[in-house]
Amino acid sequence: MKYRPFGKLGIQGSAFGLGCMRFNGAASGDSVIDEQKAISLIRRAIDGGVTYMDTAYVYLNRTSEIVLGKALRDGYREKVTIATKMPLDFVHNRAEMQALLDEELTKLQTDHIDFYLMHGINRAKWDYAKSIGAPQFFDDMKREGKIRYKCFSFHGDYEEFEYILRDSDWDMVQIQYNFMDVDHQAGLKGLKLAGSMGIPVVIMEGLLGGRLAKAPANVQALYDAFPVKRSPVEWAFRWLCDHPEVSVVLSGCNEAAQIDDNLRIFDTVEPNCMTDAELKLMDDVRAAYLSRTQIGCTGCRYCMPCPNGVDIPGIFSVWNNVSLYDTDPRWDWGLRQIREKGHGADKCVACGACEAACPQHLPIIDSLQRAWQALTPNEGGGQ
Ligand SMILES: NC(=O)c1ccc[n+]([C@@H]2O[C@H](COP(=O)([O-])OP(=O)(O)OC[C@H]3O[C@@H](n4cnc5c(N)ncnc54)[C@H](OP(=O)(O)O)[C@@H]3O)[C@@H](O)[C@H]2O)c1
Repeated sequence: MKYRPFGKLGIQGSAFGLGCMRFNGAASGDSVIDEQKAISLIRRAIDGGVTYMDTAYVYLNRTSEIVLGKALRDGYREKVTIATKMPLDFVHNRAEMQALLDEELTKLQTDHIDFYLMHGINRAKWDYAKSIGAPQFFDDMKREGKIRYKCFSFHGDYEEFEYILRDSDWDMVQIQYNFMDVDHQAGLKGLKLAGSMGIPVVIMEGLLGGRLAKAPANVQALYDAFPVKRSPVEWAFRWLCDHPEVSVVLSGCNEAAQIDDNLRIFDTVEPNCMTDAELKLMDDVRAAYLSRTQIGCTGCRYCMPCPNGVDIPGIFSVWNNVSLYDTDPRWDWGLRQIREKGHGADKCVACGACEAACPQHLPIIDSLQRAWQALTPNEGGGQ
């Protein structure tokens, strides 16, 4: 296992951090955890040299912290740092923040949390956090020793990221980043900014939740043609670790084989470990994924609201994602949400209001039909 510095903090951590959100293959919060299996996976990772454990109050129906606490008995707690998170939607004042943190400490069976994060914030959530005194609460808990570092995890755009990063004295930030997200969310610009400020960066969704683990045929052909043979997972992690600003790459693992594979990979990766030819390969791989885009919708939402309630940008986003990563639409969370809310393309009456408003002049009506046909193939699709 390679160990990397945490920017200005003067400490080191394992390059591979274990994400405790996906045991059982579950997306956050919607499955029953297999406790014994999860404990054995956590201990396997630690025995292999992992020192960074990432969880959150809400993961796995609020059971992730409990299982991690159990796994860290028998001397394992002393070998790791724990990162967990405060869900701002759950707290309205200092008393509630205190109660929630104390509950997390109890579940984790520890007297302190190393990295305490405001969970998944953007500009609006940060403004809310300030309005309820969360930054002050985090500072006070640092002084009391209940947390070591004041941090946040982020989902928003670059401008929001820069604003939040400069608006407080952060010890660490966790961002979504991978070779497809260079210009998405905080992106490469955000990573570089944090690095320039000495703020350590922890990476989540390095494999886009597993979607980058299996390459579609046109991408696999590029990997196969390259003289050095590596799996898509290894290329993705290697590309991330090439960035010196990255302290830890999180990965959620469901199987011992995945832990072992990641332990092997993170034993070989260093800052600036990619050659020019390898970096060029990853640029080509990104282009090959993007060539699978179905429609050039930018998500500007000029077409919205649709008079009939069709979630036009949402449907196009799912269509593009399913096509890019060659995934099964039946298991797509975004599509499920659209259908549950009754915002599917089956509601389209071809009134054309969207096409008149679209600055890209996209053929929306026809594209919605094609998208729905592709996303709901066994239901006849279309209008
Ligand atoms: N704060 C936030 O807002 C937030 C949001 C997202 C994630 N996170 C944290 O970040 C952690 C990492 O995110 P993530 O779970 O999305 O990470 P990820 O690395 O992008 O995806 C994890 C998935 O990749 C696959 N995988 C991992 N190692 C593999 C290997 N060696 N070979 C083949 N497949 C492999 C598995 O997919 P299969 O299940 O398909 O096998 C696994 O479930 C989470 O666990 C969570 O702790 C935080």
